[in-house]
Amino acid sequence: MKKAKVENKIDLTFELNGQPYHLTVPPTYRLVDILRTDLQLTGTKISCEIGRCGACSVLLNGKVVNSCLVMAYQIQLSTIETIEHVSHQSLHPIQQAFLEEGGLQCGYCTPGMIIALKDLLEQNQQPTDEEVFEHLSGNLCRCTGYTGIIRAVQRYREVVNKKEEIQ
Ligand code: FES
Ligand code: FES
Repeated sequence: MKKAKVENKIDLTFELNGQPYHLTVPPTYRLVDILRTDLQLTGTKISCEIGRCGACSVLLNGKVVNSCLVMAYQIQLSTIETIEHVSHQSLHPIQQAFLEEGGLQCGYCTPGMIIALKDLLEQNQQPTDEEVFEHLSGNLCRCTGYTGIIRAVQRYREVVNKKEEIQ
């Protein structure tokens, strides 16, 4: 007797970039597959696929994660933010600082760097350079230095300081 092929799928409910979603996906899907393949949110990049480079970084329940390592079932009832949402109203101040200080690198590493820095700056508005390097340790770039990024964070700190002086 032939056995029928059972196509297992899982139902997921989650919030993404401020919107509720309900999707049915294969259980082998990772969060990065859902974002890029099903939802065409291609700002999140795939590079190493083994959790080493940070190109696929997103915020999951407010914490930075590598979306290539998050299985579909792990996002059930979670809240996710991707790079597309970071500037949904206007540029995030760290994005503005990147523009002003030439912190932008390639399209592969920059989205993940911005997500990681947003995560850091939400916890600590005045990180030291060492804390920035430590927080970016999961975001690799083999092509350029990190000096533009450090300058951008320094600019961010100046802007925050000025705002605090005015208040
Ligand atoms: S693609 Fe996910 S960490 Fe590199
Ligand atoms: S990986 Fe983006 S500039 Fe090197």
